[in-house]
Amino acid sequence: MDNIPDINNINETYEKALGELKDNKTEQDLSTWRTKYLGRKGILTGLLRNLKSTPIDSRREIGQQLNNIKNLLENNYEEAINAAGKSDNKNSSVNHVDITMPGRPIQNGRLHPTTQIIREVCEAFLSMGFDVAEGPEVEWEYYNFDALNIPADHPARDMWDTLWVESDKQEKGNILLRTHTSPMQARIMENREPPVRVVVPGKVFRYEASDATHEWHFYQVEGLAVDQGLTFADLKGTLFEFAKRIFGENRKIRFRCDYFPFVEPGVDMSIDCFACSDSGSIEPENCSICKRTGWIEIMGAGMVHPRVLEQAGYDPNKYTGFAFGLGPERIAMLKYGIDDIRHFYSNDIRFLNQF
Ligand code: DAH
Repeated sequence: MDNIPDINNINETYEKALGELKDNKTEQDLSTWRTKYLGRKGILTGLLRNLKSTPIDSRREIGQQLNNIKNLLENNYEEAINAAGKSDNKNSSVNHVDITMPGRPIQNGRLHPTTQIIREVCEAFLSMGFDVAEGPEVEWEYYNFDALNIPADHPARDMWDTLWVESDKQEKGNILLRTHTSPMQARIMENREPPVRVVVPGKVFRYEASDATHEWHFYQVEGLAVDQGLTFADLKGTLFEFAKRIFGENRKIRFRCDYFPFVEPGVDMSIDCFACSDSGSIEPENCSICKRTGWIEIMGAGMVHPRVLEQAGYDPNKYTGFAFGLGPERIAMLKYGIDDIRHFYSNDIRFLNQF
């Protein structure tokens, strides 16, 4: 199109614009029309801008003509848009609010399954007279190992694949991410006088690859009881009661010897398999939960090693104690039939919504 305005192309543009305006009925079409003719880069605006290129003697007249046309088109557009607005309001559902429609449901938040199980576990021990304490995830080598009767260079350190923290600071050995919650045994004994009854939930870290039963970070709940005259019978009674509260009244428990440097004797505790012994429908020889053994290991435990008591400042001739450590994710996996520990921390809402 010739952009230098003259009377002919001004009239032509006017006719064309009016014609097109009549064909447009909806607000949206009209708005497109307005952009085409009257917008900042519109045809009429372009003509006005190019006014300076017309011969000087006709510029005034043509300028007036252009402005007239622009005003006429604006007026026509206003009329058309008003008419369209009225009919749009009548016909469309967009502007119609149905106040009887039900609202959108609000999604409820909930506690993470690990948090739920930790609370359940702590609740069971709280009701037996224990209290709850928490400790640092970034820990001194001393509390994670030495204070627990695991000296430097002792092969027992290999039981925990450790993530070390690089630091120039060296007060109680090097700095690490705690590999278990047991360091809190020593910290608590350093700060309290017996009798002690405490459980310690918290996060732990291991330098190992994740698979269905291992994560590089997970939770533990540690337990410690120290007093005069505590025996293995107290350990058994307390943990038996715990097992019944979490896994049901019918549970049986079994202890077998195990080695942990900070307890003597050390044991692992199993419960009888609730899947094949309770249901009656699963035969023990087909049970995938207990792997056909009838028993499921749920924690490590033992009588606190005299050296651990001594190192924390307790007289091992006067006091005895028991300790235990369990993995809440493992408890939740058993209780709810979860087959892969990685589900806990992959943040899949379909998994989390089931709890
Ligand atoms: N800290 C041990 C681990 O991470 C678990 C454990 C075993 C804790 C026996 C205890 C215990 O307190 O007595 O493997």
